Amino acid sequence: MTAPELTGSPGLSVLLDPADLRAQLSDDVRKGLTAPEKWLPPKYFYDDLGSELFEEITRVTEYYPTRAERTLLHLHATEIAALSGASVLLELGSGSSAKTRILLDALSGAGRLSGYVAVDVSQGALAGAVAMLAAEHPGLPVEAVVADFERDLCALPVPGSRLVAFLGGTIGNFAPRQREGFLSSLSAALWPGESLLVGLDLVKDPLRLVAAYDDAAGVTARFNKNVLRVLNRELGADFDIAAFTHVARWDPYQEWIEMRLQADRAMTVDIADLGLEISFRRGEEIRTEISAKFRRAGIERELAAAGLSPQGWWSDGDYALVLAKA
Ligand code: SAH
Ligand code: AVI
Repeated sequence: MTAPELTGSPGLSVLLDPADLRAQLSDDVRKGLTAPEKWLPPKYFYDDLGSELFEEITRVTEYYPTRAERTLLHLHATEIAALSGASVLLELGSGSSAKTRILLDALSGAGRLSGYVAVDVSQGALAGAVAMLAAEHPGLPVEAVVADFERDLCALPVPGSRLVAFLGGTIGNFAPRQREGFLSSLSAALWPGESLLVGLDLVKDPLRLVAAYDDAAGVTARFNKNVLRVLNRELGADFDIAAFTHVARWDPYQEWIEMRLQADRAMTVDIADLGLEISFRRGEEIRTEISAKFRRAGIERELAAAGLSPQGWWSDGDYALVLAKA
């Protein structure tokens, strides 16, 4: 897939190259769009434009998780850093690394910070984050790793005892079985005594949840539709993006938000590079993301089942940070 050229830059490793990512995209699109209930994985939102749109989402009034997490980090990072005993921060799905500086400052205040490793599928997001961190923390060894956190956990660097941060509520974008697999792979990839810090959005009033995923300014709608733009560009598809409507729906049984794209009319889409023709009925939907919301007992049970023992919980009632040790 197209992305800024980072290969060859100091401190960059590529575990997932553009050809791998394109092969994954082809497989996933073939599977997801030929299924009786169409779906696409959320990973493909995050090309350069998608990563920028996500950053814009974090600033819209209705989208509270980023603000809530930033406040919790400001309040509790010192305690988290002390409990972790880590010397390296490794962040999964680091995006712009905007909140990361709070944890870096806390680890550095504890006198033991020796490096930061940013891991993301988006080369564009990593390039921006690395430039920002080099300016803010001159002298700190920073490594950017283009990787898939569902596939590459065992191959990630171990430059010291790590605090692995998985922020933003991204854990909610896994389906339950995927999440179970992710937590057990992560547990297996951590060394004894290393820590995991997870940011979690909590179950709350469905009206607030739906508003957070269907903001009045339409930024989330643009983010959602961007995945069709990615398919048009990367796979030679001819989606008429204007013919799809953004839908955000709360599922009270699964306790997750679903983002969907609904076809406004019957149509056939040609995905040239895959030799596929996909038909849509009027009103038919593609599920593009789930965003699960959590309860304390449930996530602590899941962490324990993966061999990760909970060490701390910090929450404002809307959002939570949980720290666990391998
Ligand atoms: N942690 C940041 C960004 C959250 S957005 C924050 O809290 O604001 C989710 C991030 O995860 C994006 O940057 C996206 O590119 C990345 N991502 C999504 N799926 C991924 C995968 N399978 N492997 C690695 N990164 C992934
Ligand atoms: C990255 N992830 C946690 C976001 C979320 O809230 O599920 C992605 C997002 N989707 C729509 N708005 C934000």
